Amino acid sequence: MPNIVEDELSRPSIFKDESKLSIDYVPEHLPHRESELKQLASIFRVTLEKPGNSQRVIITGNIGTGKTALAKNFGNQIVTIASKRGINLHYIHINCRRERTSFTILNRLVKTLHPRIPRRGFSTEELLQIMKEILVEKDIHIILTLDELDFLLKREGEELLYSLIRLFDEQLNAVQRLSLVGIMRSEALFRGLDSSIISSLQQNIIRLKEYSAAQLETILIERVKEALQTNAITNEEIKFIADIAAKQGDARYALEILWRAGKIADAQNKTRILPEHIREVKSEIYPVVRKDVLRDLPFQHKTLLLAISRALTTEKAYVTTSETEKIYRVVCEEYNIEPRRHTQFWEHLKELEKQGIITTKISGTGMKGKTTLISLPDIPTSILEQEILNLLGGV
Ligand SMILES: Nc1ncnc2c1ncn2[C@@H]1O[C@H](COP(=O)(O)OP(=O)(O)OP(=O)(O)O)[C@@H](O)[C@H]1O
Ligand SMILES: [Mg+2]
Repeated sequence: MPNIVEDELSRPSIFKDESKLSIDYVPEHLPHRESELKQLASIFRVTLEKPGNSQRVIITGNIGTGKTALAKNFGNQIVTIASKRGINLHYIHINCRRERTSFTILNRLVKTLHPRIPRRGFSTEELLQIMKEILVEKDIHIILTLDELDFLLKREGEELLYSLIRLFDEQLNAVQRLSLVGIMRSEALFRGLDSSIISSLQQNIIRLKEYSAAQLETILIERVKEALQTNAITNEEIKFIADIAAKQGDARYALEILWRAGKIADAQNKTRILPEHIREVKSEIYPVVRKDVLRDLPFQHKTLLLAISRALTTEKAYVTTSETEKIYRVVCEEYNIEPRRHTQFWEHLKELEKQGIITTKISGTGMKGKTTLISLPDIPTSILEQEILNLLGGV
């Protein structure tokens, strides 16, 4: 009798190494970001030559312009070079959207530096001091990247940034052990910060521009070599993908089209990606709502989002919170979880709005009394529902 699992596993695939297209993969070479990498190296040169001189950098740029990839790639390289020179330099990359609050950010930071720290409830102030002590005691220098800083600033303002900048400033001539890299999409948000913060950060701003079609093409060509079998895609199809993604200048979108088109080709037992596969996935991917943003949502938020996508049936542009709450209860039953109380339900809604996935507004005239209306402007409900169902797994 044929073995289904074995057959499936030995079926030929157009992927040579699919992990090279995963959202967390950081390529060793970043085409078209050479000058920015050079800029970072020249900024941090002094930190390597005279450890104790810290630096601060802001990286800005639109979605998918390579901010995260640039910082991580630089971090990997500088740590290797520092260790060859006998400098104890660590690179720590923290995502402020994923960690949510100053407290969790600091907690993560301290745990990275000292994994066996007791799990007692420290305050943010204590965590800052503990971090400082660890750095001094172990003679460590760090480059801390706060990625998606926009979220922290919108949620809590600039206090953490301020404390981090001031951390070693209290004593005169103290060894500066903490360098900061802040990544944000919006430079306008940065301009709105306190003037003392702006002045201490603005010497080094690296602005990443959206990629052109030709630049996306080189990025795709390099990744194709790493991820796909030879001849699995022709130059014409690569150009086609680059042209589609060039509207946003978004490399993530380009790579996701490539990956999904590959999956369809595999599912159809084709040995190469065809233009039709690309057209098919193009209609399915919405670059505005990122897959990793959905993936990182807590379970409860995912179930609420599922309820919202079901409540907003295809004919509806808005749903009321009470309608949504009813459907939410059904979803909770389906997943065998206790529905959250109204106040928490409300907080989760606000959280989804902060993440930019849904929008809410107060109803105008025409409805009985005032109520909040929920809408989903950036992604079709059917596609969101499917994405969330995949993430939640089978019931
Ligand atoms: N120059 C490049 N060469 C190769 N791959 C790249 C390049 N720029 C970006 N990428 C890839 O494109 C994807 C998106 O890049 P990245 O995550 O760095 O974007 P971002 O600017 O941080 O976007 P966001 O604002 O959404 O966080 C990643 O998979 C990354 O590896
Ligand atoms: Mg990023």
